[in-house]
Amino acid sequence: MSDVPDVNTSNPHTQGAASTQEEPMVVIEQLVKRFGMLEAVHSLTMTINVGETFGLIGPNGSGKTTLIRMLVGLTRPTSGTICILGERVPSAKIAALLGYMTQASALYLDLTAYENMAFFCDIYGLRGRVQRQRIHEMLERVDLANRANDVVATFSGGMKQRLSLACALVHQPRLVLLDEPTVGVDPELRRSFWDYFAQLNREGVTIIVSTHHLDEATRCTRLGLLRFGNLLAQDTPQALLRQAGKSDMEEAFLYFAHQEVQA
Ligand SMILES: Nc1ncnc2c1ncn2[C@@H]1O[C@H](COP(=O)(O)OP(=O)(O)O)[C@@H](O)[C@H]1O
Ligand SMILES: [Mg+2]
Repeated sequence: MSDVPDVNTSNPHTQGAASTQEEPMVVIEQLVKRFGMLEAVHSLTMTINVGETFGLIGPNGSGKTTLIRMLVGLTRPTSGTICILGERVPSAKIAALLGYMTQASALYLDLTAYENMAFFCDIYGLRGRVQRQRIHEMLERVDLANRANDVVATFSGGMKQRLSLACALVHQPRLVLLDEPTVGVDPELRRSFWDYFAQLNREGVTIIVSTHHLDEATRCTRLGLLRFGNLLAQDTPQALLRQAGKSDMEEAFLYFAHQEVQA
């Protein structure tokens, strides 16, 4: 993916360099999700600004997927609110502005890469020439143009991840939610994914990305550290390291987890 053109000039949402602006993209207030007796997300309050690459960092079971599914509007909160660009979720108005890459692949294995993308385009109302153009553009960007007409069942794990990403981005969303996009991805492709996220971010796309790879955290503008549904801390990676007095994020995470246990 690194050899693709640097700037997608056709993106209507391009806002130039997307450094952290103080305009809220997502405002979450006292958000709770319970599954029976289990509280998967505990009274979470946070704001994610336009232009951020916000990392949701936490081990398995910390509530990352549950939170992302509530943000996308697929899971209803038990209580609390989410607003995206001022609209209360779920809202048909903002659904088209969101791109979502699920943790489990949402691809149809018996369809070709092109057909999978066409399916997503249909959902988002992209048709005819615009649809064909967007599919070709995105397949180029994720280096799958030469496999457009192959069925996905023949793809490697990394190729499926790349195609899932292309599907999530085909309608040029302003906010992209990526749920562990690099899980099971080799180190080279992981780096290329993060380079691509940085490029999207420069083009004005706000990104919320979950990961349990703590080494990826430093590529985010800010992080929310989650454990058992609790927000342990949120800040820039540098500020979190400083606050914990540690030099790597894994140590810092353990520091905040320990602080919470003691509280
Ligand atoms: N549909 C569900 N029904 C019951 N429990 C669930 C459901 N979805 C998630 N959970 C539980 O909620 C907690 C958080 O899960 P999840 O959001 O998937 O965490 P993560 O994505 O960080 O691994 C886990 O304990 C998980 O077992
Ligand atoms: Mg998950």
